[in-house]
Amino acid sequence: PEVMGVEALFEKMRKIPDWPEKGILFHDITPILQSPQYFRLLVDLLVYRYMGQKIDAVAGLDARGFIIGAALAYQLNVGFIPIRKKGKLPFHTVSQKYALEYGEAVVEIHTDALEPGAQVLLVDDLVATGGTMSAGAELIRRLGGNVVEAAAILEFTDLPGGQRIRDAGVPLFTLYQNE
Ligand code: PRP
Ligand code: MG
Repeated sequence: PEVMGVEALFEKMRKIPDWPEKGILFHDITPILQSPQYFRLLVDLLVYRYMGQKIDAVAGLDARGFIIGAALAYQLNVGFIPIRKKGKLPFHTVSQKYALEYGEAVVEIHTDALEPGAQVLLVDDLVATGGTMSAGAELIRRLGGNVVEAAAILEFTDLPGGQRIRDAGVPLFTLYQNE
């Protein structure tokens, strides 16, 4: 059988033009998740990169970052921290506003989600404008954590998002880069 890699992973994403708004080409990870092989490939590529590194927790971004991040945390034998959209977390939170490709939003984290000095791996499915990932990194930093790396499947190199995250001093790792 053919050996699958990051190119195949990108191909497996479903591209939906003009959704949720005209001009947006939505990249849908559900075909990857539906496939036992591709879902494993995705998680295993990330496990391969991070196993053996000093990581205290994986933080995932609501909602698609939860799916990838939780599987990764489980495999790395560390806990999982949900960074949620506004109003979903029941305990004390800190909030961070950010601009989205389509609109504006707020993400939140529980104030006791991590210990100061914790080495946190931040995970989402993709980076477009970088707003979501940057807001997540900012929340971790505000609680005294260190973002070991921000990881995603996909980065759009025609958008400034990836560079914006790196310029803010957050190391960014993406499996696939697309124009
Ligand atoms: C999408 C995607 C990333 C973010 C990337 O999430 O899952 O989290 O946008 O865009 P950015 O780099 O411009 O911030 P979305 O907010 O659509 O919500 P979802 O994950 O809950 O589907
Ligand atoms: Mg998202």
